[in-house]
Amino acid sequence: MLYSEKVMDHFTNPRNVGVIEDADGVGEVGNAKCGDIMKIYLKIENDVITDVKFNTFGCGSAIASSSMATEMIKGKPIAEALELTNKAVAEALDGLPAHKLHCSVLAEEAVKSAIDDYYKRKVNA
Ligand code: FES
Repeated sequence: MLYSEKVMDHFTNPRNVGVIEDADGVGEVGNAKCGDIMKIYLKIENDVITDVKFNTFGCGSAIASSSMATEMIKGKPIAEALELTNKAVAEALDGLPAHKLHCSVLAEEAVKSAIDDYYKRKVNA
């Protein structure tokens, strides 16, 4: 089978879908090749990610990867979320087909870019 049960589960029943209106950090990344776009919203208190939501305009693996990534960083300190790799996301999904690995890279990048945005806002506040 091409996709693991976990990928199918997170694709058909994605966790943490949505928007956080008063987010402390927002990250948007895209892949120029496939055209998929992923947006992640973070709520951060005392350096801990208290809430996270995502919107992904893209393929099933990108949706499953963002769903899994949000679950992996929710309730975690920023430092830990920054260590989240696309490999860890793909492994948590019991693997992705080789040509779909870049979808998990998008999830890693979206998390990093949202944290980046959080720090930028802090500096400018
Ligand atoms: Fe590009 Fe999945 S095909 S993110």
